[in-house]
Amino acid sequence: MKGIKIIGTGMYVPETVAANEDYMKIVDTSDEWITQRTGIKTRHLSDGEPSWYMGAEAGRMAMENAGVSPDDIDLVLCTSVTGDYYTPATANIVQGKLGIEHAFSIDINCACAGFVYALDMARRYIATEDDVNTVLIVSPENITKLVDYTDRSTCVLFGDGAGAAVITAADAPFYSYLMANGYGADKIYAQSIRPGNAFTNREKAERFQELFPQGNEHYMYMAGNEVYKFATTKMPEALQKACEKAGFTPGDLDIIIPHQANYRIIQTAAKNLGLPLEKFYLNIERYGNISSACIPICLHELRGQNRLKPGDKVGLVGFGAGLVFGAAVFEY
Ligand code: UT7
Repeated sequence: MKGIKIIGTGMYVPETVAANEDYMKIVDTSDEWITQRTGIKTRHLSDGEPSWYMGAEAGRMAMENAGVSPDDIDLVLCTSVTGDYYTPATANIVQGKLGIEHAFSIDINCACAGFVYALDMARRYIATEDDVNTVLIVSPENITKLVDYTDRSTCVLFGDGAGAAVITAADAPFYSYLMANGYGADKIYAQSIRPGNAFTNREKAERFQELFPQGNEHYMYMAGNEVYKFATTKMPEALQKACEKAGFTPGDLDIIIPHQANYRIIQTAAKNLGLPLEKFYLNIERYGNISSACIPICLHELRGQNRLKPGDKVGLVGFGAGLVFGAAVFEY
């Protein structure tokens, strides 16, 4: 099987940093509650910079880091739930800003599992298309624009930023397991503009309420406890299934990079897998949950710290709105 290798990574986070104490000024919360229940201490918040800008900055860094030029990129994949425009795709904007001329570009909306989905897609294109050899993945998220800052159960969790990676064809094993449970679509959602115009009566708008009764304009709704239970069972399941395909067990992985939604979710997933927490890379304390940007930012930090050695077995695992989940395992 034709495999892939990650040859460069990049990241971008906005300048403004919000500490737990800052949230105590706007909602009834405490540093103690946030730290104990989530593991988060600070997060970066967009100073107004759009998602495409964060994606382009992270993408440029990843290309420099990989030593590739815009002409080397055949495909741009952008994972985000917070694009700046309904159309065009954020991937198209990033492609243009980076001067990538001989490529096609696609947006992927798979929430916090977006980067794992994008890696899978990159591998499939590389494996089956002779004209796709190098792929740029950018994962920019402006999640805080969806956050209701009167809702203490969600506003403290999220931050903004972007991660990116350059992927190329290689003789290296890569296996993934992706799954979606659409019946859980009502567990995390944020509504876009409703349909209707001057000529219609909008009487079918009740369909919105049928499935998504908690809608609060465009702000994000999350059934925290249910997502928590979903995550603690589906993260281990995804890793196990991806490892099965690769012919080893999660215990054989040298390092696991999980989606950074909640320290306790990762702790429970590690326990359910019978693995020490030390195998899992964590930076949630500094960034909070940045949806699909979390995993590539972790990857960039690990590479910067020289913590990934050639031949290391790496596991990535994500889950989120959809509900979606998925894991990828590969040799570094
Ligand atoms: O990346 C997308 C996927 N999202 C996730 O993975 C999130 C998954 N869910 C979670 O991480 C957790 O469910 C939360 C962090 C959202 C909530 O933690 P929890 O331990 O499940 O708390 P809870 O919802 O059961 O609430 C416990 C109490 C409640 O008070 P009462 O009803 O017991 O009096 C909440 O009102 O904690 C209260 N609470 C807070 N208190 C202080 C909720 N948020 C806060 C807060 N500060 N920020």
